[in-house]
Amino acid sequence: MFEHLAEYPGDPILSLIKTYQDDTRPEKVNLGVGVYLDAQGRLPVLQAVAAAEQQLRKAAPAPSMYLPMAGHDAYRLNAQRLQFGDQSQALAEGRIATIQTLGGSGALRTGADFLRQWFPDSGVWVSDPTWDNHLALFAGSGFTVGTYPYCRPASAELAFEAMLGTLSTLPRHSIVLLHPCCHNPTGLDLTNAQWLAVIQVLAEHELIAFVDCAYQGFGEGLEADVFAIREMERAGLSFLVSYSFSKNFSLYGERVGTLSVVCSSAPLATKALGQLQATVRRHYSSPPQHGALLVDLVLGSELADLWRTEVDAMRTRIAAMRELLAQALVEAGLPLGERIRRHRGLFSYTHLTRAQVLRLRQDHGIYLVDNGRLCLAGLTEEKLAYVSAAIADVIR
Ligand code: LMR
Repeated sequence: MFEHLAEYPGDPILSLIKTYQDDTRPEKVNLGVGVYLDAQGRLPVLQAVAAAEQQLRKAAPAPSMYLPMAGHDAYRLNAQRLQFGDQSQALAEGRIATIQTLGGSGALRTGADFLRQWFPDSGVWVSDPTWDNHLALFAGSGFTVGTYPYCRPASAELAFEAMLGTLSTLPRHSIVLLHPCCHNPTGLDLTNAQWLAVIQVLAEHELIAFVDCAYQGFGEGLEADVFAIREMERAGLSFLVSYSFSKNFSLYGERVGTLSVVCSSAPLATKALGQLQATVRRHYSSPPQHGALLVDLVLGSELADLWRTEVDAMRTRIAAMRELLAQALVEAGLPLGERIRRHRGLFSYTHLTRAQVLRLRQDHGIYLVDNGRLCLAGLTEEKLAYVSAAIADVIR
């Protein structure tokens, strides 16, 4: 019956987790998957999350009823306030439809299905390069996915003018996937002035921005990292935001995210919410409860301050590792060091060739994604000299 099935070659990022785990070399270093590890190279349990877990455990076991299709109500409100801000006019006017989703990927896929149904003639445009799964998720919903220039292969610099030029040529209602901070995979972010220029083009050409926010707090700070989202709202755009709490709550396994559709009126937001619920019902009916309860307990209480401090500490550690690696590579005479220094967030696009990435993996047990993406959050001071020497070895 199933003999015609094709082999699944595996995912370029997630398959690396298992390959890394199976590697028995003690010197191995995981700079592949986009996960924050602490200074000892461990996946942290945030103190704010641990306190919320304790509160849940102390309470009498609650019956486990289905959550509504849109998810946990208070969680959705707290997530909206974090993303759009307390001062958001769209929030005050009830113009944002938000559902709880299965992490950021679940938000992207639900948003893609929603758009495919209501904008069937639109195409989707993602940055070149982008997170591999963006292509798969939108293609999976039936879209044709094109790219806009983002990073110049030769110089590894941001191709901003070319990006803006391409966006200006897109047909009305084209869907444009944007990373508000910590661009995945390059680590090259737009300045605030560049964002304002992009927003002007989106408005003039009536493009649908789909903002994928998976790393709030890991770039410049919790507020600074959502500049693009806040400005799009202020500019009166109708747009979508997919959001993941996986990284900034270190809750990867709980699959906690949101999808928001910012509309021009409250009645339209009600309709959008209804359509999102219909999409959810067709896929998985309603989301799971535990992760959303934890995030809600933190964001809705004084634990939020502790959490903000912990996010700041994670960002500071990533930036410190970035600087140390940059310094070591510059000292080794490699221009890659200067480039890494200019990036933000978890990632740097090294422009190492696939052959060099494979040599790093095979000869040194250092795991990068095949496309040359390196995750700084997997680096520790203990491994720094080893990693920089290995990178120098494969480049020379
Ligand atoms: C990553 O980019 O490494 C993470 O977002 C994990 C994933 O799902 O690919």
